[in-house]
Amino acid sequence: MKGCLLVLLLAGSVHAVTAPSTLIANVQGRTTVSLDGAWRAIVDPFENGKSSGFFRNEKPRSKSDRVEYSFDASPVLNVPGDWNTQREQLMFYEGPVWYRREFAYHTRANIRVFVYFGAANYQTTVYLNGEKLGEHEGGFTAFNFEATSVLRDGDNFLIAEVNNMRRADAVPALKFDWWNYGGITRDVMLIEVPSTFIQDYSVQLERGSQSEISGWVRMNAAQLPQKVSVEIPEAGVRETFNVDRENRARFRFAAKLELWSPAHPKLYDVIISSGDDTVHDQIGFRTIEVKGAKILLNGEPIFLRGISMHEEAPFREGRAFSLEDAQTLLGWVKDLGCNFVRFAHYPHNENEIRLADRMGLMVWSEIPDYWDIDWSNPRTLESAEAQLRDMIARDHNRAAVILWSLSNETPVKPERLTFLKQLALDAREFDSTRLITSAMNHTDKAGPESRTLSDPLGEVLDVLGLNEYMGWYEARLEDIDKMQWKLAWDKPLIVSEFGGGAPYGRHGDADEIWTEEFQDNLYQHQLSMVERMPNLAGITPWVLMDFRSPARMLPGVQDYHNRKGLISNRGQHKMAFYRLQTFYKKIADAGR
Ligand code: GCU
Repeated sequence: MKGCLLVLLLAGSVHAVTAPSTLIANVQGRTTVSLDGAWRAIVDPFENGKSSGFFRNEKPRSKSDRVEYSFDASPVLNVPGDWNTQREQLMFYEGPVWYRREFAYHTRANIRVFVYFGAANYQTTVYLNGEKLGEHEGGFTAFNFEATSVLRDGDNFLIAEVNNMRRADAVPALKFDWWNYGGITRDVMLIEVPSTFIQDYSVQLERGSQSEISGWVRMNAAQLPQKVSVEIPEAGVRETFNVDRENRARFRFAAKLELWSPAHPKLYDVIISSGDDTVHDQIGFRTIEVKGAKILLNGEPIFLRGISMHEEAPFREGRAFSLEDAQTLLGWVKDLGCNFVRFAHYPHNENEIRLADRMGLMVWSEIPDYWDIDWSNPRTLESAEAQLRDMIARDHNRAAVILWSLSNETPVKPERLTFLKQLALDAREFDSTRLITSAMNHTDKAGPESRTLSDPLGEVLDVLGLNEYMGWYEARLEDIDKMQWKLAWDKPLIVSEFGGGAPYGRHGDADEIWTEEFQDNLYQHQLSMVERMPNLAGITPWVLMDFRSPARMLPGVQDYHNRKGLISNRGQHKMAFYRLQTFYKKIADAGR
């Protein structure tokens, strides 16, 4: 089987995921019922739950009835929230946990109901009233299942088995440098829609145009003939279109708009309605393109003053999910003087993306094709394509998102290149309006002071991402100043990672590793080196805040944390934070 996938891939014809996303777009603009809160949870290390029928939520019917599990008697876990930081004994737990949420609901005619999960890591199976609704793979993308026919008028019980066990054929695979937080990590809700409803839509400026909007609306169960209208009241726009046999209405029309930019993050109220369904959204309009070695925002070259960050909660740790978490994290990003942020290494929560839209922060969004994965396994490709499709499906109307990243630090080998080339094709098919990139770290060394970014993947990318750890994982601080960089591709370059670790408050000489002085010194050398790099269009140093990682075990220094943050996990700003802040101020003042 593997052999033939490679042949088909080489022939450029494999496309494991063909169906459009089943995700309902813009849940924040829908009628919903939240199911967040305390859920009963059974930790099931030996995976007995399925065979024991936990999904049936059985309770003894008589004093002699033997039922060897009980949600009622089980402790709770908060949803949303990873389980690792909620209970000490679950900090290192990897395996299945069964969650139950009981709720009362009043069903109504002509109202369809979907159960929606913002995310759950990693493999999730959902049951309602004992009936299986569906399965989802991937820890960072949203999913919903229709529940209309199973929902009762009265008491209901929703059960989700969530298993964060790492697998060699999964995305990501067995090794990654972040904590494998398990659980239902984002909001859960019921979405109520009319029997014919607006499934998804794209309302963006036509590529390369600042005055023409093009897009589509995809209906669910359209009753033809059916019309769709798109309104932008503030811009005096109200247009109506017909839905075709494929449940889609495609459109293109002129509009006079203020363009979205970091300096002016203008969002418009956009109203899409069809039949009994109406969806409100806030959408910004901007163009993003590449011209030679430049990235152009609204036709003007832009320098991306960025930082990389994980979706780790400040202060309390664990997976970030709330608007407050996003406000703290992106507030620090703004304090740094950034106009850009790299959400590493997986799609972050919608609160962060929508806040970036409002704050005027451009975004790099990525799927977790991280380090080495099972490149020639069709299941792995299917999972990666589905995660790519669903990442794009949720955020393709966000002006802030300018780059889709396919991978991070993946080894140069034929099956990997074929795999990622397929994803590049998919990404352009799913969304032709944004730029495609990847974070690469494969360089040719033509001598101690010369590096060439020569990864063959560069051929299919619009923008080259480079992770380089000069002065940390390779070369000495003093070598950085002499380092000459070349690119095998004449495309814009983003240095997507550089950095070094230092716990907050650890001080010493500038050449004493693990001290703030060393980290600051490294930034000083790195910043002057990157300024000499060819085609430099932006940087996102590694990393905004210290984060938990099972790969960082140095006692008294790391203690299971990656300490490359410019801010500690308790919000303390390190010396290098101010070094980068000053650098960005200089660049911004110079109008770059
Ligand atoms: C890698 C990787 C990050 C990791 C970082 C580090 O480049 O992309 O996920 O945390 O380096 O080593 O600190």
